[in-house]
Amino acid sequence: MQVETSSSKYGVKHYPDAIREWKKEGNYFCFYTTETILEVRVIADKIIRFRYAADGTFQRDFSYATSDTMEESPITFGIKEWEETFEIYTDALKVFIARDNLRITISDKDGKVINQDEMGFHWQHYLQKGGKIVYCSKLVQEGECFYGLGDKPTDLNLRGKRLENYGTDAYGYQKDTDPLYRNIPFYYGLHDGIGYGIFFDNTFRTIFDFGKEREDACSFWARGGEMNYYFIYGPELLEVASSYTKITGTPELPPLWALGYHQCRWSYFPDTRVKEIAATFRKRRIPCDVIYLDIDYMDGFRCFTWNKEYFPDPAGLIRDLAAEGFKVVVIIDPGIKVDPDYSIYQEGLRNNYFCKRADGALMEGDVWPGKCVFPDYTNPVVREWWSSLFKGLAETGVRGVWNDMNEPAVFEMGSFPEDVRHDYDGEEVSHRKAHNIYGHLMSKSTAAGMKKYLLPNRPFLITRSCYAGAQRWSSVWTGDNVSSWEHLWLASVQCQRLAVSGISFTGSDIGGFIGEPDGELYTRWIQLATFHPLMRTHSASNETGFNQEPWSFGPEYEKVVTRFISLRYQLLPYLYTTFWQYATNGMPMLRPLAFTAQQDPATHNCTHEFMFGDSLLVSHVGEKGMKEMQVYLPEGNWYYFWNDSLHTGKQALTVATPLEEMPIFVKAGAVLPRYPEMQYTHEKPVTEMLLHVYYGETTVRSMLYEDAGDHYGYRNGQYNIITFKQVSDAQQFHLKKKYYVNYETAYTHHRIVLHGLPFRPVAAIVDGVSIPLDRENFAADNTISFLADRGFEEIIIRRP
Ligand code: GLC
Repeated sequence: MQVETSSSKYGVKHYPDAIREWKKEGNYFCFYTTETILEVRVIADKIIRFRYAADGTFQRDFSYATSDTMEESPITFGIKEWEETFEIYTDALKVFIARDNLRITISDKDGKVINQDEMGFHWQHYLQKGGKIVYCSKLVQEGECFYGLGDKPTDLNLRGKRLENYGTDAYGYQKDTDPLYRNIPFYYGLHDGIGYGIFFDNTFRTIFDFGKEREDACSFWARGGEMNYYFIYGPELLEVASSYTKITGTPELPPLWALGYHQCRWSYFPDTRVKEIAATFRKRRIPCDVIYLDIDYMDGFRCFTWNKEYFPDPAGLIRDLAAEGFKVVVIIDPGIKVDPDYSIYQEGLRNNYFCKRADGALMEGDVWPGKCVFPDYTNPVVREWWSSLFKGLAETGVRGVWNDMNEPAVFEMGSFPEDVRHDYDGEEVSHRKAHNIYGHLMSKSTAAGMKKYLLPNRPFLITRSCYAGAQRWSSVWTGDNVSSWEHLWLASVQCQRLAVSGISFTGSDIGGFIGEPDGELYTRWIQLATFHPLMRTHSASNETGFNQEPWSFGPEYEKVVTRFISLRYQLLPYLYTTFWQYATNGMPMLRPLAFTAQQDPATHNCTHEFMFGDSLLVSHVGEKGMKEMQVYLPEGNWYYFWNDSLHTGKQALTVATPLEEMPIFVKAGAVLPRYPEMQYTHEKPVTEMLLHVYYGETTVRSMLYEDAGDHYGYRNGQYNIITFKQVSDAQQFHLKKKYYVNYETAYTHHRIVLHGLPFRPVAAIVDGVSIPLDRENFAADNTISFLADRGFEEIIIRRP
């Protein structure tokens, strides 16, 4: 008999009883109790999937999150039967399943407990709505910290909080507003230096409690669907991040221009205004690659139309902008205007593509165009149709699409009512199950369309809502934030959190979407965003006429803003390499310090500092008028970017914060590849790749990835991977380089810029050939600069 305890407003809770039989099939094991079945699947040595059939029947095994290329590759595994437990083991883990009640304890090979069920799996009938509420509760380990969960605008460490996923149009959200736009049911635990992750792949509303209700329990549950989670072991948190990203899919490389600076506003119109903005960037020599058209480019906000008065010749406009190095991104929302004369509406209606209420009426609701209907993106046929609609935009020259309002947002109603019906790839479900993947699938089919019609070029996508795994096809931004100093901090935590939740290609509306920043706040925001994978200014200034462009705040601020946008472009080779690491290994591009120095408890609650790629540690100036601030440096040696002063880590440092600087540190030993200055990507062939090398006495490896441009040539080998290894000591600087090269770059040599050399040398020996160093090579900033052939393999500089 199933044990029944603790009733609540939803009725009685059911707990599994003793295991009666078990079986093994391939890489999975099933354990049968009176009612509940547990399936334990060994996905890999460090990845175990747990699924529970509450009352004996599994649901369809189907996921919108996991990547098609996810492999189940267990190497060694097996089962042992003990008196009280079953033990499933792999090369890295032991999973104990209690015979009495199905509770799980997971330990490492040596028996150290990583994660342990408290009550474990339990469930109750959801009497009011149908189906079951499925729960899992775990014990909180001593000193345990929790991270992850996508875009939550709160401290990085989630201990003591309860949060939920139900995509919401959170206009003007604040610290601790919950839920926001995205639905990423994935978290990390860290205790005793051991990191692991749990990905609860369930698209119903999911709730996570990290010791809020009961201090010693961490639990997660869903208001429907199945208890189905992946346990991912590290012990390094970054290894967990990488495994999670591989489960839910790594992205393609974006076009390089998408890593440049983006200028957006609600809205730039008419066409002459767009051209004026573009021309101002070039005139003022502020680098920029992308201009956005928000909803006013459309005819009455009808998707896939142009307002003929404001934009009489869109293709011509886009061509003129392209000639100046600009790409155009346009917004597309899901709401299709109810208008019998509008072809998209007619077509969707005719083919039954729009969502319906329970009793068959169309799901109608107001958004920007007035009354709208909404495509059911959970239907593969509708996705196919939606993809095909992008042909026209692509042919007009549009290079990127911005999907918005796809939580889905509906004025007055908030979102769809729960009774709305969805296809869910043949399952036919209510909105309760489809809500959290609505925007996800909209952006997926948008991306598929843009990719198809832009070939051979790579598309750029940005979406507001999504579910776990959308990194495969889209970037995101943090939504409708506010021009305030608190929101600057929120932007930093949200982007870090998204990055460790699989979605590195992320940024915030620089300067704030709602409200008006002053020059100082805008400048500090630009500084932070220089180190966010997506760098976009956006504001809702159509209502107030306020301008939020890099030059809007006067010359003092414009100068600093320009300095940082230029720095962004100089760092593109480093940023692109970091993206490549993410695309290849699932390595987050932004790494909270707790993830890079998890053995150091001082990092566990750090929210300000983060690593941007392998070599740069960044913080941001978070208060008005701040003259100096504290930055925590983890173990290692760090150069202050602005003056090359050297600092030892594992301590906090006070740094001065004049407006034209922000805290940036470079890891000693690193090589930072840099471009010369430019106004936009591919403005001219890069004839010199700079290598900024930071002297360090511990071995440090760095990389440079480069490829043949914004198409898919890299898939056919048109790329180069170059690795650097610095093995210097007090007597000599020593840099080794190895490369895997397949395509000819425009540059034939590197300019080496050596920082921090503790002696004054007379020569550099490049591949055995001595190059004398004289006055010209010694710069005023104490760096040493010289040229080396692109193919060099070794540089040695000896202490005289
Ligand atoms: C939403 C978006 C915002 C956009 C506006 C108008 O509020 O979040 O970025 O500018 O709609 O399209």
